[in-house]
Amino acid sequence: MSATATDLQTPLTQLPAWKALQAHAETMRARHLRELFKSDPERGKRLTAEAEGVYLDYSKHRVTDETLRLLLELAEQSGLRARIDAMFSGEKINITEKRAVLHTALRAPKDAVIKVDGENVVPGVHEVLDRMADFSDRVRSGSWKGFTGRRIVNVINIGIGGSDLGPVMAYEALRHYSQRDMTFRFVSNVDGTDFAEATHDLDPEETLFIISSKTFTTLETMTNAQTAREWALKKLKDEKAVAKHFVAVSTNAKEVTKFGIDTANMFGFWDWVGGRYSMDSAIGLSTMLAVGPENFRAMLRGFRAIDEHFRKTPFEKNLPVLMGLLTVWYTDFFNAATVAVLPYEQYLKRFPAYLQQLTMESNGKHVTLSGERVNYETGPIFWGEPGTNGQHSFYQLIHQGTRLIPCDLIGFARTLNPLGNHHDLLMANVFAQGEALAFGKTPEEVKAEGTPDWLVPHRVFEGNRPTSTFLLEELTPEALGKLVALYEHSVFTQGTIWQIDSFDQWGVELGKVLAKKIVGELEGAGPAAGSHDSSTTTLIERYRRQRG
Ligand code: F6P
Repeated sequence: MSATATDLQTPLTQLPAWKALQAHAETMRARHLRELFKSDPERGKRLTAEAEGVYLDYSKHRVTDETLRLLLELAEQSGLRARIDAMFSGEKINITEKRAVLHTALRAPKDAVIKVDGENVVPGVHEVLDRMADFSDRVRSGSWKGFTGRRIVNVINIGIGGSDLGPVMAYEALRHYSQRDMTFRFVSNVDGTDFAEATHDLDPEETLFIISSKTFTTLETMTNAQTAREWALKKLKDEKAVAKHFVAVSTNAKEVTKFGIDTANMFGFWDWVGGRYSMDSAIGLSTMLAVGPENFRAMLRGFRAIDEHFRKTPFEKNLPVLMGLLTVWYTDFFNAATVAVLPYEQYLKRFPAYLQQLTMESNGKHVTLSGERVNYETGPIFWGEPGTNGQHSFYQLIHQGTRLIPCDLIGFARTLNPLGNHHDLLMANVFAQGEALAFGKTPEEVKAEGTPDWLVPHRVFEGNRPTSTFLLEELTPEALGKLVALYEHSVFTQGTIWQIDSFDQWGVELGKVLAKKIVGELEGAGPAAGSHDSSTTTLIERYRRQRG
């Protein structure tokens, strides 16, 4: 393991670039984007970067050339280059789980060689992809039949977290390319309503369940899978039907077999694929069923293009590096607690939800790789909604609230649904929001409009609110792969700077353990065990009384 990957690291706040950024930030807080643009008419052309059909305008950020120079220095001093190499070459950079981090191998070409513990993992990746393609073709063409000989027309993915958010986001994003005579649904919540609503109008004879779980032990998924099995068998009335209506996506063949799914109907992946980085593994089976193998492979090409860009491009032109550094800039030097992701593309309506797991499960950490409590902020809260909807709800706070919220505005030059002038209206809003947030409206401008004095303060827009604008050509499978990979590598860049393990998720464990304990108490007859605090005990007792 390289020294820069884990140990021998100078604490972040001791790095010369960090110290310089602290001093520099003091001066930058007072500077306004109005002034930065005025003093450099070329700024809107200069502070941009383009790669693989993705244009990033980062000129509306509160940065100068000096800021960028220092941030890039911070990346260098943080060992980002070595750490990128460590990830791509299969080093076990997920140190707390002692695992390699190789989602990039999922989209590597057939002839690539990427070794984990001395074994090239690429042939295995392509073997699974080929099996997925064969299976998808059979289901989509109708040659794979249900137990009673009927064609499968409904596919339900059962999974949660990374085994749900990627598939549902990708399905929604690529709906335009999907097989329209099939229905795709996604069940994740242990709340029975999720399952009930997803199945109420479906016929088990025509329904295929994909049980997606890396571990195949996740409470929610296993509970839903069991319910699905009962739902299907109630009509199909023969255990043998399971083979025709259930397939599994997992790393855990033993548990898959225990559940009753033949491993011939299992699509595997590996412990070096993190759940939130798995939408392009077999976890994407529902995506492939929806859009077909060709489109799925096109999506992988998009991912790969950005992987190559991230690995090979100098940092100053490297999109994920710039994205990651800007997030660090606001998080640590402007005390910004959140980032809003605002896709102006209805098909990307689940993209912010997907990004929440990717970013927050990755970088929501409070100790460094060596276990020290950090003395700076780490992962911000990611959130968002598609534009223009958000403009009529929460944008008010972004424009005039007291908090600084950097925003990612994402737009496409061409729409997949050309209807009248809808797309120009949509894109006009992308550009208008970026402009309004950056430049605002001064009291003088408000007054000049004839606003009475008492109303002026209410109508002033301070501006100086930073945005990145991403402009892509069209929402294709390839473009989706690129977009996701950009954020994956931005998260990696941030985690590297913060010296944290972006690939574990210990923070989800405690709640799971307590829920297991409490469920026993809810189901048992006796009083709630005395080991809880008085609030939890009272709530449990009240629930039991009210439930009856
Ligand atoms: O509890 C968090 C988590 O482990 C996520 O990291 C993961 O994506 C999700 O649960 C689902 O896990 P699995 O795919 O093993 O069911």
